[in-house]
Amino acid sequence: MRVVSGIQPTGNLHLGNYLGAIRNWVRMQDAMEDGSTCLFFLADLHAISMPHDPAELKSATLEMAAALVACGIDPARSVLFNQAQVPAHAELQWLLNGTARMGWLNRMTQWKDKAGKNREGQSVALFAYPVLQAADVLLYQATHVPVGEDQKQHLELARDIAQKFNNDFASEDAPVFTLPEPFIPPEAARIMSLRDGSAKMSKSDPSEMSRINLADDADAIMQKIRKAKTDPEPLPSEAAGLAGRPEALNLVSIYGAMAGRQVADVLAEFGGQGFGAFKPALGELLVETLAPISARFRELKQDREALDAILARGAARARELGRPTLDATYRALGLVRG
Ligand code: TYM
Repeated sequence: MRVVSGIQPTGNLHLGNYLGAIRNWVRMQDAMEDGSTCLFFLADLHAISMPHDPAELKSATLEMAAALVACGIDPARSVLFNQAQVPAHAELQWLLNGTARMGWLNRMTQWKDKAGKNREGQSVALFAYPVLQAADVLLYQATHVPVGEDQKQHLELARDIAQKFNNDFASEDAPVFTLPEPFIPPEAARIMSLRDGSAKMSKSDPSEMSRINLADDADAIMQKIRKAKTDPEPLPSEAAGLAGRPEALNLVSIYGAMAGRQVADVLAEFGGQGFGAFKPALGELLVETLAPISARFRELKQDREALDAILARGAARARELGRPTLDATYRALGLVRG
C-alpha cells in the first residue's frame, strides 16, 4: 500500500482539512504495515496558481509543516516534504501535459468555480493544476489518496491520465502508472462554512468567522461556534429531520466527527434541545479536542531549524522514491537523456 496526499500551504489548517483529510492521514500512517509507505506533502507549487505573496508562502509552508506534525504526522514514519524540494513533481507534470486533454481540464468544477467568468484572465497554472496533482500521486505509484470530497474529481482525472498514458505508451503487462483510489471519509467528507451551510469551509473564505482554525484559542473557538449561523428550530431527534437544514446538519456532523459518534447518536442525546444548549457543548468538545494540537503547533512552529531538517530529510527520501517512475516515464515517451 502506498498512501500519498497533499495540502496547500495557504492560510491556516482548518477543521475541514483536519476532519476531511489530515485525521485520515494520521490514521493511515498509524495503521501502516511493513513494506507500506505514506508520503504527505505541502503543495507549495500548487499555491502559485493564484496570486500570492512570496514571503507569506514561505512562512505558511513552514507553519503548515508544523501543523501537520502537531496533528500526528510523524516524520520518522511518514515521508513529509514540500513539493518545491522535489523537482520530479514539476517534471512529471510536463510529461503528463502531453496526455491530459484540454476538455478534461475544462470540466473540472474547481477550475470553473475559481475562474468564474474571467477564464481568460487566469494563470495557466490554475488551469493545469489538476495535471500537477496527478503527477503528485502517480510519481509515487500511490494506491490510496486520502482527501475530502472536493478533491474527488481531481483524483478521477489522475486515473484517466494514468490510464491513457499506460494505453498509449506502455504494454499491458508493464504499465508505467498505478491507478490511485481516492479515500474519502464518509462522515466528514465535506465540512461546511459556519456562516453558510451551502459553502464548504475554506481557507480562501475572507471571513475568519466561517472556519475554525486548528490554532484558534479557546475564546475564538467558543465565539465562532456561538455566532455560527443556525435556524430557530430545536434539533430533531432523528437524522431525517436535518433535511433542508444545512447549518444544523453541519454542526451536528462536526460534533459527531469530533466525538467519533454517528449523527443519529448525537441527535439521540441533543434532539429536542435548542442551539442555546447544543452550541456550548460543541464548542467545549472542540476546545478540548483541539487544545493539545494547538499547543504542540505553537511550540513546533518556533523551531525553524527542526522544521527545515524534517522537510530536507523528507524531500531526500521522496526524490529517491519518485526516481524510478520518472525515469520510466521519460523512457516510455522516447525522450533521449544520454
Ligand atoms: P486543500 O489544500 O484545499 O485541502 C487539503 C485537504 O483538505 C480537504 N478539505 C476538506 N475536507 C472536508 N471539508 C472541507 N471543508 C475541506 N476543505 C478542504 C481537501 O479535500 C484536501 O484533502 N489540490 C489539493 C492539494 C493537493 C493534493 C495533491 C491532494 C495537491 N496535490 C495530491 C491529494 C493528492 C488542495 O488544494 O487541497
